[in-house]
Amino acid sequence: MPAYVIVGMQWGDEGKGKIVDYLTQYAEIVVRHQGGNNAGHTVVVNGRKTVLHLIPSGILHPGISCIIGNGTVLDPAVLIQELDSLEAAGYPTAGRLFFSDCAHVIMPYHKRLDSAQERFRGKNRIGTTGRGIGPCYADKADRMGIRLGDLVNEALFADKLGAVLEYKNGVLEKVLGEPPLQFDDIFAEYCGYADRLRPYLTDAVHMVHEAVAADKRIIFEGAQGAMLDLDHGTYPYVTSSTTVSGGVCAGAGVGPTNINGVIGIVKAYTTRVGEGPFPTELTDALGEQLRTQGNEFGATTGRPRRCGWFDAVQLRRAARLNGMTAIVMTKSDVLSTLDSVKICTAYKVRGILTTDFPTGIDAFEQIEPVYEEMPGWKQNLSGCRSWSDLPEPARRYIQRIEELLGVPVCTISVGPGREETIERVDPFTLTASRRADVPG
Ligand code: GDP
Ligand code: IMO
Ligand code: MG
Repeated sequence: MPAYVIVGMQWGDEGKGKIVDYLTQYAEIVVRHQGGNNAGHTVVVNGRKTVLHLIPSGILHPGISCIIGNGTVLDPAVLIQELDSLEAAGYPTAGRLFFSDCAHVIMPYHKRLDSAQERFRGKNRIGTTGRGIGPCYADKADRMGIRLGDLVNEALFADKLGAVLEYKNGVLEKVLGEPPLQFDDIFAEYCGYADRLRPYLTDAVHMVHEAVAADKRIIFEGAQGAMLDLDHGTYPYVTSSTTVSGGVCAGAGVGPTNINGVIGIVKAYTTRVGEGPFPTELTDALGEQLRTQGNEFGATTGRPRRCGWFDAVQLRRAARLNGMTAIVMTKSDVLSTLDSVKICTAYKVRGILTTDFPTGIDAFEQIEPVYEEMPGWKQNLSGCRSWSDLPEPARRYIQRIEELLGVPVCTISVGPGREETIERVDPFTLTASRRADVPG
């Protein structure tokens, strides 16, 4: 049962899409288990860029099966758009792409409520992607959600939509002062989507279990990152799903005993989109330089990403939250022009030194990061293909990070392209009980 979780360790956009695509060459099934089209996963193959929001990033490999699991929230219009553009680009999906009938459907009122709630939050707004993610997960928890399996059953869908819409229109009109939505419009639009999506629906949990039983290698593709986790992130500046590796169990229907290892995707510096705490943020020209050199603009909303130094305090917390067994480091090439690079190794909170990541939002206002400075490598890394190709200062930076996090860096990404990747240690050989023998 070789099943591995690939998960973002920071605030999202670590390069999960690129690495899932890369590692899919060694896998048979790729499963998305949480999140929705708030995610934007970029894959570059032979110079051609594909941005995926819902469909697993393994889809560009012929013959690989991809599953969207029960823990996700799906906007049917976006899903159909993605299906169409993949087909047009020469990536057929029929017979190898499957959607869980238990995944929840994002409805027009979810998107309306998402933006209305942000307006109500005013200066405390979260900076959501506006895709209706939070309201859809809230309805799921409130047992008011509509699932894909409901959508494809016209009578059931009409019944559920009628009841929910009456309630949602009450909120829209009476609480938020917005015009109501019309049942007939939504019903007709969504029945059209249902016809297109019906052939892809399945009992995804059963499929995953069959793959586990057949000893197939499964990759669970996380969306967002550890610090956006609903429970463990910088609440309330988080997304509405369980983004840490434990989310796989509920979101794909497997037990913890089915998971062999957790591959953490770690960017060589830190970025964040939207509002919320970011202790190592650089609001100066250097931050701007990282944004430009790293092309740090959201793959979903196009918003500029906030940029800052590598934060080992945050990452140590993330490593534990996820049970991380291997690190894939991305975007080390972006730091190539810098004379020196910094790693945050501790925080000063109200003058007191700590290596613990705070749990309360109020503590972040008082944080002062404590940095360790290391020489930069001043060399383009994009042509490096082996550990020994990397300049000595880059190797030392990576080794220091391994030391601080206690987890080996197995793979190093030096550019967006599939081939711009260095294999150092096979991440699939590492489990919670087996450590790596890394070359010095
Ligand atoms: P994800 O959400 O974690 O899949 O990450 P995104 O796709 O949103 O953002 C990562 C961005 O960095 C994308 O534009 C990728 O093409 C790009 N990228 C991934 N790995 C590397 C890398 O090692 N170097 C550089 N320069 N770009 C990378
Ligand atoms: P990937 O998978 C970066 C952020 C939003 C906002 C917060 C809540 O590409 O790494 P939401 O719309 O989810 O309610 O927004 O979470 N956010 C992400 N930031 N990458 C993502 O996904 C994100 N998905 C959500 O910017 O701050
Ligand atoms: Mg992204």
